[in-house]
Amino acid sequence: MRRVSRKKALNFVKELDAFPKVPESYVETSASGGTVSLVAFAAMALLAFFEFFVYRDTWMQYEYEVDKDFSSKLRINIDITVAMRCQFVGADVLDLAETMVSSDGLLYEPVVFELSPQQRLWHRTLLLVQNRLREEHSLQDVIFKSIMRGAPTALPPREDDPTQPLNACRIHGHLYVNKVAGNFHITVGKAIPHPRGHAHLAALVSHETYNFSHRIDHLSFGEEIPGILNPLDGTEKVCTDHNQMFQYFITIVPTKLETYKVSAETHQYSVTERERVINHAAGSHGVSGIFMKYDVSSLRVRVTEQHMPLWQFLVRLCGIVGGIFSTTDQCCRWPCEQSDASALREQRPLASPFCS
Ligand SMILES: *[C@@H]1O[C@H](CO)[C@@H](O)[C@H](O)[C@H]1NC(C)=O
Repeated sequence: MRRVSRKKALNFVKELDAFPKVPESYVETSASGGTVSLVAFAAMALLAFFEFFVYRDTWMQYEYEVDKDFSSKLRINIDITVAMRCQFVGADVLDLAETMVSSDGLLYEPVVFELSPQQRLWHRTLLLVQNRLREEHSLQDVIFKSIMRGAPTALPPREDDPTQPLNACRIHGHLYVNKVAGNFHITVGKAIPHPRGHAHLAALVSHETYNFSHRIDHLSFGEEIPGILNPLDGTEKVCTDHNQMFQYFITIVPTKLETYKVSAETHQYSVTERERVINHAAGSHGVSGIFMKYDVSSLRVRVTEQHMPLWQFLVRLCGIVGGIFSTTDQCCRWPCEQSDASALREQRPLASPFCS
């Protein structure tokens, strides 16, 4: 009894076989079929090869979420050169939470404003890259991927001994501020705090020495990561008037960067700028200097490097191989089946040139 049912089961499984076995002697091969097979195999190999490159490649995925980090400090990295002597200028930050943030982290270094030929070349290249970045956004992905391997974006040191007097001041270093809107500025005179904010002691500086021409070699927020280019890096402004005000309005976007090489908390920013000549007689009031108003966006961007998973690669590979195989199979068989069917109907010998 048991034997019978086992046999039945075996027969049932046999019937399920989707791959009927045709005896070798029934199978005919032909030159045309062989050519089609060769073409099909070549196409399979080619497509599988390209697919492998797609598999090897990675891409950046951007996601947005509300920034939930509300307690950390924001780091500002600055490297800016102003065409005034160091004793005449002062830099500090005012933010909404505290009236004034100590700017101890900043160094004042007397330098020459004009760049050496080599530095000029470097600077021009930087501006070129910045221009391309504005036009081609996919370049940002390349930068993200090559970060850490990239060269630092700071200006290289001078290679020659300058003969001109040190007429400019390079202000560089970093500051920690509260993660709220604020204003980083460079104006005449050192800042002196007083109970209601702070003042700059400017009375001793003659207006003739005012010159807020400046070059921003680096301005970034958050962790400093070599290889990342910030929108203001390389900006150079030369003014023709002594009393001039430069304003930069910056919106900082916290960015979590996760590539296969690094995982970093950084900040991107967008910026708009405005400059204006201060002339009290003409109704253009204000304080001459460089003002950077920044604000932190409430959205956070998460940039992750993505990779095609292995299973997906295998499925696509099966799709390519199976798809080409069955398509060419159908193409080869169809004319034979058509002619064979009509031959049978008309009772003439099976003679299709393609099938012989
Ligand atoms: C300010 O300094 C720059 C660079 O040294 C110079 O080209 C420019 O003419 C100066 N501007 C004024 C108003 O003196």
